[in-house]
Amino acid sequence: MKKIGLFYGSTTGRTKKVAEMIQKEFDPKSLDLYNIKDVNPSDILKYENLIFGTSAWGIGDMQDDWETFIDDLAELDLSDKKIALFGLGDQIEYPESFADGLGTLYCRIQVKDNIVGFCSTEGYKYYYSAAEKDGQFIGLVIDQDKQPELTEERIKKWVTGIKKEFK
Ligand SMILES: Cc1cc2nc3c(=O)[nH]c(=O)nc-3n(C[C@H](O)[C@H](O)[C@H](O)COP(=O)(O)O)c2cc1C
Repeated sequence: MKKIGLFYGSTTGRTKKVAEMIQKEFDPKSLDLYNIKDVNPSDILKYENLIFGTSAWGIGDMQDDWETFIDDLAELDLSDKKIALFGLGDQIEYPESFADGLGTLYCRIQVKDNIVGFCSTEGYKYYYSAAEKDGQFIGLVIDQDKQPELTEERIKKWVTGIKKEFK
C-alpha cells in the first residue's frame, strides 16, 4: 500500500486520540500523522492515500483548525487521491447536529468519487446528522463522549475496509 497521510483537528484531544488509535491499525512506517493546525497544503499532496478527521462544534462547524484550513484544501487537486474521513461528535448532547463537522468536511472535498470508507448508522441514536448520506455515514463516526467503549471495534472494522480501497 502507498503511504498514508492522516490529518486531524482536535480541540480537547479526543480526535487526536482517535487518530492515534487509527494509526496503530497500520504499519507504523506506512502512515504519517499530522495536526491540521501545523500543516502546509503541500504536505497533503505528498500522499496518495489520505485520512481526514474532525470533531463537530455547533451546527455544521468543523473543529476550529479545519475551519481555518478548509479554503486551502478546496484549492488542492485531490483527483488522483483516495480519501477516507472520520468525525467525532456527541449524539446525546447534540442529537440534531450529530457529527456535523464530518458532513461539512465531506461537502468541501471537490472530488467525491474518491472518498472511501462509508459506514453503517446502526448503533447510533440521533435526529439529524449532516454526516449521513443515502442512509450511511460518509465516513467513520466516533462518539468518544458517550460510546467510548465502542471506539476500538469501530476503528478496526473501518480500517479493514479502507485498507482494501486504498492504493
Ligand atoms: C460547545 C460544543 C459544541 C459542540 N457541538 C457539537 C455538535 O454540534 N455536534 C456533535 O456531534 N458534537 C458536538 N460537540 C461535541 C464534540 O464534537 C466532542 O466532544 C468531540 O469529541 C470533541 O473532539 P475534540 O476534542 O477532538 O475537538 C460539541 C462540544 C462542545 C463543547
